[in-house]
Amino acid sequence: MSPIRLGLNVDHVATLRNARGGVHPDPLAAAELALAAGADSITIHLREDRRHIRDTDLARMRERLAAPLNLEMAATEEMVAIACASRPHACCLVPEHRTELTTEGGLDALGQEVSLRGPVARLTEAGIAVSLFVDPDPPQVLAAARLGAAAVELHTGQYAGGGEGELDRLAKAARLTAELRIACHAGHGLTFANVGPVAAIPEVVELNIGHFLIGQAIFDGLGPVIAKMRRLMEQARG
Ligand code: PXP
Repeated sequence: MSPIRLGLNVDHVATLRNARGGVHPDPLAAAELALAAGADSITIHLREDRRHIRDTDLARMRERLAAPLNLEMAATEEMVAIACASRPHACCLVPEHRTELTTEGGLDALGQEVSLRGPVARLTEAGIAVSLFVDPDPPQVLAAARLGAAAVELHTGQYAGGGEGELDRLAKAARLTAELRIACHAGHGLTFANVGPVAAIPEVVELNIGHFLIGQAIFDGLGPVIAKMRRLMEQARG
């Protein structure tokens, strides 16, 4: 089975920093520590309202991080321009609503196929690997492939919420990505308790995990938490 990568989302380090308006805790320092502890890449979501990650975080991470940076963003003109100028390794296009606490569902790649064509093409031409965050539904995966995305990130939120049949839905969508020759990532709501079955899906080559790892780091420290998640992912892989 191919190796599986762990991407740490550091948005909530920025949430904590912003609670007091200063510079501590620094998401870049957390990213560096996580990479030293075994994370493969860093994910940040630059939201329209800049509620956690800010433009300066993106600039500092691009300047200082040697590892791949995955920029989550809405497919808006503003964000596409920022991404094309800063050229992260990857961009994950997500739906974004002002009032949501976190990304609530997958992107409707099928319904928005026409409007997504331009953003996907511009980002790809800028040398950025584009992934689309979609629910594990075959029509959405097929639309992502038609759009020329390099990857899909399968939304694991319903699986994490305990939905019946959700693991099977993820496994089937993952199999389709292999047929379409598009890389398969997954994320949202993953924890020590539920990561194993997703990491065991052979087509899944990257997991992006944020809230649980940052929260658990309060108790165990960020380095040990990253090391344990890596261990669980690799055990599941056999
Ligand atoms: N992947 C995507 C596309 C997301 O929007 C998020 C949440 O920011 C995650 C992964 C990580 O989810 P969580 O914070 O629940 O681990």
